Amino acid sequence: MGFWVHKRVWIVGASSGIGEALVRILVENGASLVISARNEPKLRELKSAFPSSPMEVLPVDVEDHSVLSCKTDRASEVYGGLDYVFLNAGMTVRDLVADTALDVERKIMDINFWGPVAITKAILKNRSPGSPLHLVLTSSLSGKYGVPKLAAYAGSKHALQGYFDSLRAETHGSGLFVHLVIPGFIRTNITVAGLRGDGSRSGKMQAALADGMEPEVCARGILRGLERGREEFVVGGSERFTVLLNRIFPGMMKRLIRSNPLQRIKKVKRGFFGT
Ligand SMILES: NC(=O)c1ccc[n+]([C@@H]2O[C@H](COP(=O)([O-])OP(=O)(O)OC[C@H]3O[C@@H](n4cnc5c(N)ncnc54)[C@H](OP(=O)(O)O)[C@@H]3O)[C@@H](O)[C@H]2O)c1
Repeated sequence: MGFWVHKRVWIVGASSGIGEALVRILVENGASLVISARNEPKLRELKSAFPSSPMEVLPVDVEDHSVLSCKTDRASEVYGGLDYVFLNAGMTVRDLVADTALDVERKIMDINFWGPVAITKAILKNRSPGSPLHLVLTSSLSGKYGVPKLAAYAGSKHALQGYFDSLRAETHGSGLFVHLVIPGFIRTNITVAGLRGDGSRSGKMQAALADGMEPEVCARGILRGLERGREEFVVGGSERFTVLLNRIFPGMMKRLIRSNPLQRIKKVKRGFFGT
């Protein structure tokens, strides 16, 4: 029997990119899914591609924290409990701090940080003690180091890292498992759907992502890491080594990312790792 057969999985941020790829692979591997995001027609289209598989559509806007407790209860009721919850919904803003409105930065925190926190609190409230449950948070390389023009996004992902590392330590031995997944450059629409500092939609795919890993390959890497029980891991091309570089040579890394960081990281990839 495969690892994911009959696993009850809720994916928040399931309508595109990495989340959609997770849905497709998990359903093929026998999991029972609840799929959430704002784009309900896209979720229904995804469900209709797998007519005979257990898949419930549960539209959720994680920015609306007032509904997240009810939505969490509903997701838990569908199959009488949950084994894995992927808190994967995310949004970017790409602009200088000086040119980014505070409301836009708040929106990013609301979606990327407070949304997962609110869902987690609802899960903890109703959880039967001792029953295993895995929380999977999608962090980022910019959850590990700051990057120019990504301050709010990096702030939200650093906050996820600190908060969920703390929760993991608090709940050790209770059956709650916290996993932090760090994708590298993955070819999704995250930057196309992302915002500029004034709140308008960017509409542009960032070059580093256009050259990045396919979401399906990333999703397979994420699932492999979870099957191995890894608490925190990076999935991506050779840009993943920047986490190690930052840990060992923080000064060098700071110099590298001071200007045009993604171009520089790409150069490091080519120079050091030959890709
Ligand atoms: N692509 C990369 O290179 C990369 C690198 C590091 C980390 N990540 C992280 O990976 C995660 C998935 O992103 P992706 O790259 O797959 O981008 P994506 O294709 O844009 O997917 C983002 C997902 O989040 C959902 N979402 C956004 N705002 C939401 C809201 N308010 N409520 C509910 N769902 C919402 C979107 O669905 P709706 O629009 O339908 O709501 C979509 O399903 C994000 O957390 C992102 O920060 C991506």
